[in-house]
Amino acid sequence: TMLTPAKQETIVITAGGTREAIDPVRFIGNRSTGKMGMALANAALKAGYRVHLIVGQVEVAVPKSPHLIVERVETTRDMLTAVERAFTTATGLIMAAAVADYAPAEVATQKLKKQGDAGLTIQLQQNPDILATMGANKRADQWVVGFAAETNDLDTYATRKLMTKQADLIIGNDVTQVGAGFGTDTNIVTLYQNGQAPVRLAPATKAEVAAQIIQFIQQRF
Ligand code: C5P
Repeated sequence: TMLTPAKQETIVITAGGTREAIDPVRFIGNRSTGKMGMALANAALKAGYRVHLIVGQVEVAVPKSPHLIVERVETTRDMLTAVERAFTTATGLIMAAAVADYAPAEVATQKLKKQGDAGLTIQLQQNPDILATMGANKRADQWVVGFAAETNDLDTYATRKLMTKQADLIIGNDVTQVGAGFGTDTNIVTLYQNGQAPVRLAPATKAEVAAQIIQFIQQRF
């Protein structure tokens, strides 16, 4: 029937932005809406995969499917824990989430008060890099895919990311281009694979771009 997936393979997909608490009422966040991650989840389900979706802060509806597990997380560390656990039984990981690279070194237990003219300094510490961690620890039968949202020198940075994160595919987008990046319903992406010429996809809706990415993954991995 339609409900039986053609494959028993599971893809782990992260979507949305992570949040890092400053105090009980404030956080550091980002402009991710989760649109690209959600589009990828829908496309993967349509292609017959099982999907384990790990979502941070999102502004769009999460798909419903008997072949979908949804897990909600707040911080980058929470997301790492969830991804590590889910990945053990998955064939692939797509890190579409916008992950906070830094978190306050200490979370205040009480709401911070105005500090006066001297201002306020919040010490940040670097978060773990989820994609790099999974790239380093993946099995030979597993693949990991990351995104590179850049404002300049996309080819250089995306190619570097492919190496440093040991990713099998980097999906690059120049977020300064109209119709690409955060919040938009469309995207303009280039696919970077080791030893291959970059594959530039035509501007399209995030749903269409996601379908093409899933198709590319199916063909290559
Ligand atoms: O290094 P950069 O943040 O630009 O890399 C982007 C890619 O790495 C995205 O796929 C993002 O989801 C992932 N990432 C991550 N953990 C971080 C930072 C980024 O998994 N701490």
